[in-house]
Amino acid sequence: MRVEVIAGLSAAVAAACATERPRDQACPTWQSEVAPALAACIGCHGGAAPAARYQLTSYLGALGPGSDQVSNAIAGDPGSVLLVAVDPARVPATDVDHAGHGALHAVLTRWAVECQLAYLDSSIHAAGVLDPASADFHGAELRARDWDLALCAGCHGADFGGGAAEAACTACHPRGPTACDTCHEEVPTTGAHGAHVGVGSAGLACATCHRVPSAWDDDGHLRRAGVADPPPAEVELAGLATVTVDAADRAGPPRFDAGTCRNVYCHGDVLGASGGSARQPSWASDPPGPAPCGSCHGAPPPSHADDGCPTCHPSDGVHLDGTTQIGLGLPGCSGCHGGPDSPAPPRDLAGNVFTTAIGVGAHQAHLRAPSGLSAPIACSACHRVPAEVTAAGHIDSVGPAEVEATLGWDHGLGTCATAWCHGSAQPRWTVSGEAACGTCHAVPPATASHVGVTTLTACTTCHPNTMDPIGRFVIGGAHLDGDVDAP
Ligand code: HEC
Ligand code: HEC
Ligand code: HEC
Ligand code: HEC
Ligand code: HEC
Ligand code: HEC
Ligand code: HEC
Ligand code: HEC
Ligand code: HEC
Ligand code: HEC
Ligand code: HEC
Repeated sequence: MRVEVIAGLSAAVAAACATERPRDQACPTWQSEVAPALAACIGCHGGAAPAARYQLTSYLGALGPGSDQVSNAIAGDPGSVLLVAVDPARVPATDVDHAGHGALHAVLTRWAVECQLAYLDSSIHAAGVLDPASADFHGAELRARDWDLALCAGCHGADFGGGAAEAACTACHPRGPTACDTCHEEVPTTGAHGAHVGVGSAGLACATCHRVPSAWDDDGHLRRAGVADPPPAEVELAGLATVTVDAADRAGPPRFDAGTCRNVYCHGDVLGASGGSARQPSWASDPPGPAPCGSCHGAPPPSHADDGCPTCHPSDGVHLDGTTQIGLGLPGCSGCHGGPDSPAPPRDLAGNVFTTAIGVGAHQAHLRAPSGLSAPIACSACHRVPAEVTAAGHIDSVGPAEVEATLGWDHGLGTCATAWCHGSAQPRWTVSGEAACGTCHAVPPATASHVGVTTLTACTTCHPNTMDPIGRFVIGGAHLDGDVDAP
């Protein structure tokens, strides 16, 4: 009956596929004899939780691996687990589940060894049409026929729902054989796919590395100009991989070559001398999971003196976005220290804002000089000021920050031993109120010039550029300008 149906097919399909195959009518097939004979087994080897995870209710189940990774029915192999399991010569009588199946063993042996695990007795398809290990497997057949699914559709229906062949592809491929997950996983787990795509990965789009077909039959996907596109799959790196920081650091366009990614921004291969240990990672042999910190760039890069990344790079910044984020929110020099108006602390490098922290200390007392003791004091009085972040002397050493040597700064004591401004006094940087009238010099000093001078209003007599007649500092006057302003 079927043969008549097939005889009615188009000449082209018939010529391609329906040539009568030589058939051994005596061969047991899954459909004719094997499935019925195994009916005795499915009480245990059927259902949702079959014994030894071995399902005998379907052909693919019978070929399946059961309790281990090896197929239980291998074409041509008399040692197949399925045969051994019911071989009267080997099954102990105590194994009542499997003993006493001599006739079944004979059928199974002929089926597996001589008849190549024939699925069906077909005038069209070879015995191994459904055996994934067979050269005649329908997937292999398709591949050999340049993935010409239209050929199959001619008999199995345009929607692969059965058609004239009355055998539905959709019985096993519910979304149809042209669905994206028929021939490979929709989100592959091969090689380093797992680290790049899918849940728990870097979440990259396929298009970062491939030209993604919108339909299975797009030219260049699995067919090219009508013939099968030979493996391997094409890798075309786009997006972030192509980012160039400094043209001198890019040896060429990003490419996948000999199992390795080269000149790829994402892996630090164009970040210059940033010191990553695996900047050309191997797709297949690098360990799965996220690459360790030191692999794309050093942690820190060799140019860095300091390994406390969050001091200079935002810890909530977007990593691997094509731009190196420097500074924490505020632009320019205030990125890592200082506030909106000035790069001077507060805040200090650790984020402190109180004067009791050594990074903050008396910065504002000096820079703004609210007491009026002096004009505002520039950074350069105490530090070498960098013209840009990467200037020499700035961040090229580990902390604490450098203070001009002439000041005799002692980080441990928090005092300046030789700062002319304080005379012999050494007020502590992190304690306020230690630089009041009388601490840097006596008021007035106990020198001969000051005998009899008792009031601040008297000072103006001899220090008119410093003091006014009311006993206050002259605004913009000569106090603390580095020069004793005396008669
Ligand atoms: C009463 C339940 C029962 C019946 C009926 C039964 N089996 Fe089993 N079978 C088991 C259990 C339990 C195991 C796992 C333990 C073992 O190897 O004995 C097993 C294991 C197997 C295995 C090894 C599978 C593997 O991957 O490890 C094969 C093959 C097998 N059975 C084939 C058969 C065949 C063929 C029949 C029908 C003739 C059959 N069994 C009938 C219970 C049963
Ligand atoms: C000339 C018609 C024809 C063509 C072309 C054809 N088939 Fe079939 N196919 C059949 C028929 C009819 C059956 C049912 C078994 C039988 O009677 O031979 C079948 C059965 C199958 C089966 C077994 C499934 C089952 O449930 O029985 C698979 C798998 C299969 N075909 C795959 C393909 C693939 C893949 C192609 C394209 C490469 C293809 N067929 C092309 C006619 C065809
Ligand atoms: C009885 C179940 C069954 C039927 C019916 C079936 N297939 Fe398959 N098909 C499979 C299995 C199993 C695989 C292999 C899956 C794997 O290797 O993970 C497969 C694989 C494929 C592949 C992928 C091949 C490759 O190498 O990547 C294609 C394409 C395919 N089938 C097409 C068809 C078409 C077309 C039909 C109908 C003509 C069909 N199948 C009918 C079970 C079936
Ligand atoms: C980070 C880059 C990258 C991303 C993202 C990526 N792939 Fe791949 N893909 C590759 C590489 C590299 C190969 C191996 C090519 C080779 O073997 O020469 C490959 C191979 C493949 C293959 C061939 C079979 C295999 O598994 O090796 C398929 C199919 C494939 N990718 C599909 C996808 C799909 C679908 C996505 C998105 C879900 C995706 N890829 C995302 C890099 C990527
Ligand atoms: C009939 C089988 C089949 C179907 C259906 C299929 N693919 Fe593929 N796909 C392949 C094969 C085979 C390759 C490897 C091609 C090569 O070696 O060049 C591949 C490769 C790819 C690649 C890697 C880039 C390339 O072209 O080599 C991507 C991405 C991809 N497929 C996505 C898809 C998407 C998306 C769909 C659904 C729209 C889909 N595939 C459906 C067989 C298939
Ligand atoms: C003292 C401030 C500072 C600290 C701390 C710091 N970085 Fe940087 N980082 C910078 C600056 C500034 C740049 C920009 C350098 C340039 O333009 O040459 C930079 C650039 C980078 C780059 C881009 C590549 C390069 O070398 O230009 C990477 C990657 C990087 N840092 C990683 C780190 C890591 C990882 C850490 C912690 C282990 C860290 N950084 C700690 C200031 C710092
Ligand atoms: C897959 C490669 C790769 C790995 C692994 C990697 N990085 Fe990066 N990292 C980069 C690239 C590329 C940059 C350049 C700036 C950018 O695009 O964000 C960068 C920049 C940075 C920066 C500078 C600030 C920024 O985001 O721009 C810091 C800090 C940093 N990485 C820390 C780390 C830490 C910590 C780890 C480990 C948890 C790590 N990186 C692992 C590639 C990597
Ligand atoms: C009166 C002297 C003085 C002036 C003026 C001064 N600093 Fe400082 N600065 C210090 C001292 C003292 C420290 C603490 C050094 C230490 O921790 O050993 C310091 C520390 C720093 C630090 C490091 C903070 C930390 O968290 O460790 C930065 C950044 C800094 N100063 C920037 C500036 C800038 C910018 C200016 C000008 C806008 C400036 N300073 C003006 C004396 C001064
Ligand atoms: C990427 C973060 C970052 C940025 C942006 C930054 N600095 Fe700094 N700055 C630091 C660090 C870290 C130190 C402490 C360096 C050390 O320990 O020697 C510092 C210290 C200083 C000091 C104290 C003297 C020294 O070098 O130790 C001054 C002054 C200073 N910075 C001024 C500036 C100026 C001006 C700019 C803008 C051109 C700037 N900073 C931008 C991180 C930064
Ligand atoms: C009669 C004149 C006269 C009056 C009034 C006077 N000074 Fe002076 N002062 C001088 C002279 C002269 C010097 C120069 C050095 C010295 O003789 O001590 C001087 C120096 C100083 C110095 C610098 C000391 C040093 O070590 O170099 C200070 C401080 C000072 N006077 C404070 C005061 C104060 C405060 C007052 C008011 C309470 C005051 N003087 C009133 C004459 C005066
Ligand atoms: C931070 C230390 C410091 C404090 C506090 C201080 N002075 Fe002075 N004073 C000096 C120094 C240093 C000089 C000498 C050099 C100079 O003026 O640059 C001086 C000089 C003077 C002079 C001499 C004229 C002059 O300008 O050289 C007068 C007058 C004076 N101070 C008054 C006062 C009075 C009044 C107070 C309290 C309201 C005071 N000073 C607090 C450090 C201080």
